[in-house]
Amino acid sequence: MDAASALPAVAASLAGATGAYMLYSKRRGLDRDASGGTGASFDGQLAAGVNMLANKDSVLRRDQVAGSMGAYADLFEGKTGKHSGNGLEGDGAVTTQASIDKRREGYRTMVNNFYDLVTDFYEYGWCQSFHFAPRYKGETFLESIKRAEYYLCSRLNMKPGVKALDVGCGVGGPMRNMAVFSGATIEGITINEYQVKVGNKYCEQQGLKATAHLTRGDFQNLPGFQADEKHKLWEGIDYRGQDWTARFDVAYEIEATCHSPDKVRCFSEVARCLKKGGLFAGYEWVVLPERGYDAKNARHVAIKEGIEIGNGLPTLATPADVVAALEAAGFEVLEHGDANANAHAPTEIPWYDTLDGKMSLSGFRMTRLGRACTHAMVSSLEFLRVAPKGTSHVSAMLNATAIDLVEGGKDEIFTPSYFFLARKK
Ligand SMILES: C[S@@+](CC[C@H](N)C(=O)[O-])C[C@H]1O[C@@H](n2cnc3c(N)ncnc32)[C@H](O)[C@@H]1O
Repeated sequence: MDAASALPAVAASLAGATGAYMLYSKRRGLDRDASGGTGASFDGQLAAGVNMLANKDSVLRRDQVAGSMGAYADLFEGKTGKHSGNGLEGDGAVTTQASIDKRREGYRTMVNNFYDLVTDFYEYGWCQSFHFAPRYKGETFLESIKRAEYYLCSRLNMKPGVKALDVGCGVGGPMRNMAVFSGATIEGITINEYQVKVGNKYCEQQGLKATAHLTRGDFQNLPGFQADEKHKLWEGIDYRGQDWTARFDVAYEIEATCHSPDKVRCFSEVARCLKKGGLFAGYEWVVLPERGYDAKNARHVAIKEGIEIGNGLPTLATPADVVAALEAAGFEVLEHGDANANAHAPTEIPWYDTLDGKMSLSGFRMTRLGRACTHAMVSSLEFLRVAPKGTSHVSAMLNATAIDLVEGGKDEIFTPSYFFLARKK
């Protein structure tokens, strides 16, 4: 029996094995959800999970998953799959200069491997926008995600005729929402080939081919960059002679430049691609010394490292680092601050609540129980050889980092939404 014909049988056996959770699952077809599907209902849970693991668009061969995950784990001192509550010690092993340098050096392989491994999990469990957002009571999860994106549109004055650059665009969820909302034309760049492949497919399926497009590239070396000893085009990237110098009116990044090995270089490349006076806005992942993050506190360090390990990050910056990098890259910083500063006000639902969440019909896959069910499903599918070897290691890593994200959010020592607005001088 081949994997595809085994799926219904596997689905049936797992439906029994995972009890009440699976009773809600209803097979709805195995095509990818191009609608910007939320991953936020019980409906089609198992079918979507099986689809995720038997994905025909994947650029990573089945026999490469375990090796890719192993190479990734090596960059983090083999600590993947642990969190601050289950044995990840705040010993700073991932924060030593040698460890950070190793990831800075290998950033392209690290990020590319990471997104080869997790993109389907993200889309399955979250939605096509791979970011967090501040959320008011009464707002649904998806409303809050879109509001964070529309906020950038409004601060960047995006409207028809405006050309925008999306720096680190994922599968293009934000880009499509923002193109529809604002009427601007958006070009996104991501280092991951698989994201470009499925992202452009979604743009086409949603009738947005003319206004939203993804290019494979490195935001440290955007099209038209000056190649030298240090800055070279990476394997698999071909800009076909394009030069983006001064091509864009505005640029934004949503939780992407936290992956940069050198923010000054990245922001300088963004500045080069903007017209003079062009605005650049974003949401950065940072630790917050001003709210009590203490680099000498072992628990804080364990949380920070847990976040880095589970998210493909060289090392987390501070707000001061981000502002300094923007200034060094030739921007005037007009505004900056934590969009989650009021996360614990009685009027808000904390940004991490979806990961911590109580049992609810919406957003089930993101909750602890939902993740545990997904992990059980993934492990069973790996055991049955439907899912490639190594998939459950990825799932364990994502579960571990979710716990550290929640802890960092509860203690207010970390935010994924440090907003900035800057102007190219
Ligand atoms: C957390 S995801 C956010 C994606 C998107 N902004 C969103 O909100 O859906 C980070 C993105 O940054 C991209 N990225 C990381 N390092 C990159 C690099 N050096 N060059 C281009 N893209 C990069 C990843 O491939 C991924 O698409």
